[in-house]
Amino acid sequence: MMKIKINENFKKIKPSYLFSDIGKKVRTFSSAHPDLKIIRLGIGDVTLPLSPCVIDAMTKAVAEMGEKSSFRGYAPEYGYDFLREAIARHYERFGVSLSPEEIFVSDGAKSDLGNLVDIFGDNEILIPDPVYPVYLDSNLMSGRRVRFLAANAENGFLPLPDESLTGEGYIIYLCSPNNPTGAAYEKNELAEWISFAIKTGSLIIYDSAYEAYIQGSAPHSIYEVEGAKECAIEVCSLSKTAGFTGTRCAWTVVPAGITAGGLSLSALWARRQATKYNGLPYVVQRGAEAALSDEGRKQCMSLVAYYMENAALIADLLKKKGIWFTGGRSSPYLWLKCPGGMGSWAFFDYLLENIQVVGTPGEGFGEEGKGYFRLTAFGSREDTEEAVHRMEALL
Ligand code: MLT
Repeated sequence: MMKIKINENFKKIKPSYLFSDIGKKVRTFSSAHPDLKIIRLGIGDVTLPLSPCVIDAMTKAVAEMGEKSSFRGYAPEYGYDFLREAIARHYERFGVSLSPEEIFVSDGAKSDLGNLVDIFGDNEILIPDPVYPVYLDSNLMSGRRVRFLAANAENGFLPLPDESLTGEGYIIYLCSPNNPTGAAYEKNELAEWISFAIKTGSLIIYDSAYEAYIQGSAPHSIYEVEGAKECAIEVCSLSKTAGFTGTRCAWTVVPAGITAGGLSLSALWARRQATKYNGLPYVVQRGAEAALSDEGRKQCMSLVAYYMENAALIADLLKKKGIWFTGGRSSPYLWLKCPGGMGSWAFFDYLLENIQVVGTPGEGFGEEGKGYFRLTAFGSREDTEEAVHRMEALL
């Protein structure tokens, strides 16, 4: 019998991760009905191949790895200079000036969002509800105190600081455009959070993984808003922009001037990464550099445009059926109210059993998501059309 103690905080989280639960339900259904074609519009996983310029760059990098003279071993923990510089140039597109030293490359926004908890102590954590489950789970795993910011139809799914927040030193998670609702903060709204954070000595952790989907005037980076460099860390990724879900590349920006407890957050994050992370593969970093070039951004934006056409097909159907929804405009996700007052998981089962379309139950993203459902536009065109066709007949 084991005599070790476990991290008791794991008892506070749900026994399995949202997308693992869904995967399991779908596998069970599929083995009971092997002849039925399931259309997966659940997890936000991309389906289009990498762009040609990314493939070219990675192919050249593979050849370099096969030559003694250009072979590379461990990559620098924070990313090669060429990629950190390419990311800094990418931010210039939004009028944001960053030094490459403020950019820390990694293998995923999910990893960074989970790992950032390591550098903080026992602060009160503010997390929008509903939102990407990683913020909550990773804070619970470390025994942090979490308070939710209700995001609902009344506030346009964009909670703002209010008089109920009387404390100080909060860690505030913001995701814009939001996963799952697709709501995106405008500059004046982010300015409210920034001024609240500065006033209360709080830190914002800003997830901009879906920035490429923004249509309209919402900022692509929190640093477009004055004051953000004093109080915000930003995490971004190439997963949804450049189709890197299986290739992996993300980064975290920790502005040089942010200090807490007498230490620079950037130095703390650097220390954490140097100890626990060995750097992203050279080949992938060359692919990422290409994706961020002018030609790469152009090619990636055509992937984004394709997915947004899928979103429009789903949106048209929902409108036609009179089903309330939001998202699908600055986001690859459509967030709908389950028809007939059905619960999120009941609607999940209803779609899976009757038409074999898989989505994500809203309550998997938080209590406020009860009665809502998320559909992703990341499927192939054929699958999206087929799903729309099936839903048209069922709903
Ligand atoms: C989602 O479906 O919410 C995302 O794919 C999850 C992720 O990006 O890790």
